[in-house]
Amino acid sequence: MTGSRRTHIIGVGGYLPRRVVTNAELAERVDTSDQWIVERTGIRQRHLAADGERTSDLAAAAARQALEVAGVTIDDIDALVVATTTPDLIFPSTAAIVQSKLGGAGFPAWDIQAVCAGFVYGLAQLDAMMRAGMFRRVLLIGAETMSRILNWDDRATCVLFGDGAGAVVLEQRAEAGGVIGSVLHGDGAHRDLLKAQYGSDVPRDRPDFHTDAAGVAAIAMRGNEVFRVAVKSLGAVVGEVLAAHNLTESDVDWLVPHQANLRIINAIAKRLTLPEERVAITVGIHANTSAASVPLALAHLHQQGRLQRDQLLLLESFGAGFVWGANLVRWSLGE
Ligand code: COA
Repeated sequence: MTGSRRTHIIGVGGYLPRRVVTNAELAERVDTSDQWIVERTGIRQRHLAADGERTSDLAAAAARQALEVAGVTIDDIDALVVATTTPDLIFPSTAAIVQSKLGGAGFPAWDIQAVCAGFVYGLAQLDAMMRAGMFRRVLLIGAETMSRILNWDDRATCVLFGDGAGAVVLEQRAEAGGVIGSVLHGDGAHRDLLKAQYGSDVPRDRPDFHTDAAGVAAIAMRGNEVFRVAVKSLGAVVGEVLAAHNLTESDVDWLVPHQANLRIINAIAKRLTLPEERVAITVGIHANTSAASVPLALAHLHQQGRLQRDQLLLLESFGAGFVWGANLVRWSLGE
């Protein structure tokens, strides 16, 4: 394959807000317990953004780390994409804000909204654009302040999410490896199972519906229905992406899954017959950080020195819509 264009991950970084909130602290506010949350989800704690700390701040911090790991600066970047479902503003895009915070100018910057699947969608999109020769080096960031769209009185949802950001620098190289391929799917028929509405859409006969100052209503979810579709869809897409590239379960070195629920992660690991030590698991310490969860898990593995060059990583994610997908990546960092 040497000679053809491939998209390599040459830098990775993560950022978590300083404040850590444990399950026990949440149990002081809503009728829940550490035991219930750990048993049903695997979550033990989450990081929450400080007042005034915006999605773009988290994104910029993760991006700076990824640039440093890559050994490049913002001046070497040709495009910047932020996957987020909690943008700073309706517009301009969070990507434009991050571009200015990083001191970049001139190159294109845009957001991707595919909720929890945003990073996986973004990697597929940018890989295709880079293979086509549009960009040589890009920043892809997943960043969220989910805490801003939660109803902190709803125990069924407020225990599940956290804030954070993860970023990668992608570089086009005429070298084997890198992103092998991606598969994306969507099915809007399930759009009502998991959503956060604008004020104009919030039912007027539901005074209990929590809306913030901008009129955005908190996340509403039919959890166990989401759970069932997630397991089924993710189980199918990991098989599909492997088959598309003539690879099998035994070729996978790491599963880097969306971090929503440990039981969903375990079901997919079992489908791939992967032992726990080959699965990135950060849901316990980060909770569900939506579009940030996969790149944060990558950053976590990298910082722990657990990823080796040429290892095959299977990334997957599933989000509201529903939208879901998977990427196969050969790791390019390290010796
Ligand atoms: N603490 C204590 N009890 C809780 C609770 C909490 N934080 N949240 C819900 N419950 C209660 C419910 O009220 C319900 O009580 P009832 O039986 O008296 O009505 C009971 O627990 C069971 O609720 P259910 O929703 O059926 O539980 P579950 O086993 O499906 O687990 C989730 C709930 C949310 C953890 C699980 O469905 C899930 O993870 N779904 C997928 C969520 C997800 O991944 N979303 C993001 C996709 S990107």
